[in-house]
Amino acid sequence: MNMVELITKKKLGQELTEEEIRFFVRGAAEKTVPDYQLAAMLMAIRLQGMTARETTTLTLAMRDSGDVADLSAIPGVKVDKHSTGGVGDTTTLILAPLVAACGVPVAKMSGRGLGHTGGTLDKLESIAGLTVEESEEQFIRQVREIGVAVIGQTGTLAPADKTLYALRDVTATVDSLPLIASSVMSKKLASGADAIVLDVKTGSGAIMQTLEGSIELAQAMVDIGTLAGKPVTAIVTGMEQPLGTHVGNALEVKDAIDVLAGRTEGALKEVSLLLGSHMLVLADRADTPEQGRKLLEEALNSGAGLEKLRQMIRAQGGDPACCDDVSLLPRAAVIREVKAGVTGYAAEMDTMALGLAAQAMGAGRVRKTDALDYSVGFVLPVRIGDRVTSDTTLCMLHARSEEDADRAEAAIRAAIRFSDEPVQSPPLCYAIITKDGVKRFTE
Ligand code: URA
Repeated sequence: MNMVELITKKKLGQELTEEEIRFFVRGAAEKTVPDYQLAAMLMAIRLQGMTARETTTLTLAMRDSGDVADLSAIPGVKVDKHSTGGVGDTTTLILAPLVAACGVPVAKMSGRGLGHTGGTLDKLESIAGLTVEESEEQFIRQVREIGVAVIGQTGTLAPADKTLYALRDVTATVDSLPLIASSVMSKKLASGADAIVLDVKTGSGAIMQTLEGSIELAQAMVDIGTLAGKPVTAIVTGMEQPLGTHVGNALEVKDAIDVLAGRTEGALKEVSLLLGSHMLVLADRADTPEQGRKLLEEALNSGAGLEKLRQMIRAQGGDPACCDDVSLLPRAAVIREVKAGVTGYAAEMDTMALGLAAQAMGAGRVRKTDALDYSVGFVLPVRIGDRVTSDTTLCMLHARSEEDADRAEAAIRAAIRFSDEPVQSPPLCYAIITKDGVKRFTE
């Protein structure tokens, strides 16, 4: 089989056979197809799309490109969670310890930043000493001992996705339904979980920006999971603005610790509780999401969730002291307050531009090999619907240099539109999708 022929076929919008898809995926996993041909194929898929049959075949081929983890040594129902990626979206660092504190094992394999979105692994690595590389044996032992582990995909798990994910990040091929659905679901099916909760973002900072596109993506992933015999609940949540107020790796770890310590309320906490409550339902720990939420709130209020995070950081070689003193997290050289400079209501945010501003400051990668600066990013306390006056703090920049801060300030100002008229804050949850159908919460 010849890669040029396959790229040509997809370029012309033709359907690839199972054999052809498996050839391309094997080439990605075994590195027998060069990056430039993989990149061309990714762009052809991005531009021409895939049929539902091709997407399912691609997912299963990616799952089968490596080992499928066997988590049967961990007692209980293992529920995984995955987000399609957002800005200031650090729910995993909150709900993984909280769900574990409720007695449900969380064996989670997470990803790195992709495009304008942050990645849990990059955030965790901003904690001194912490490693996200563990063997499957270590991973299982940690979950058996303390109930929670968040690590990178082991080298043998969906290796095709590892190659394609890194290439998509730097070839403008992130926003493709078949590529997202196959990337997410191949990893989730290979990671050995019994059930899966998906957080599908929608809005200006999401990979899929329209509600209909996000629901379509959610449905595709639920269908793939159902076909593979795993219960999947997909929740479409808003990404019209950063979820938390903090954007950047160490800053988002701080935001998560502040939520677990009971110091921060708001959207990040609410969405974490929403996703966590559905994890507890799928794990048979709660009969309803409402009951699940109650259990999570108890774990939060008693400090059990924060204690689980401490245990997890310690088990992964990190210093848990940051849970009690967030000033121990990496700190940027330049910290600058930016005033709103206008009077009005925050009406609209270009959240992708905000994510790209953080990426340009050094919080994300532009090239595959870029090293990150964990300390940089920004804190944006203003939410859509808030009224500001000229003296209100618009954001706090955490930058490597005054020049970087200047560029970020300009980008952030350009990304936020103010209005003279009051503006309604957008909903946090738009729809919940299961194999039984779509439940919408908005018109
Ligand atoms: N998360 C993933 O794992 N893959 C994608 O393609 C997008 C989000």
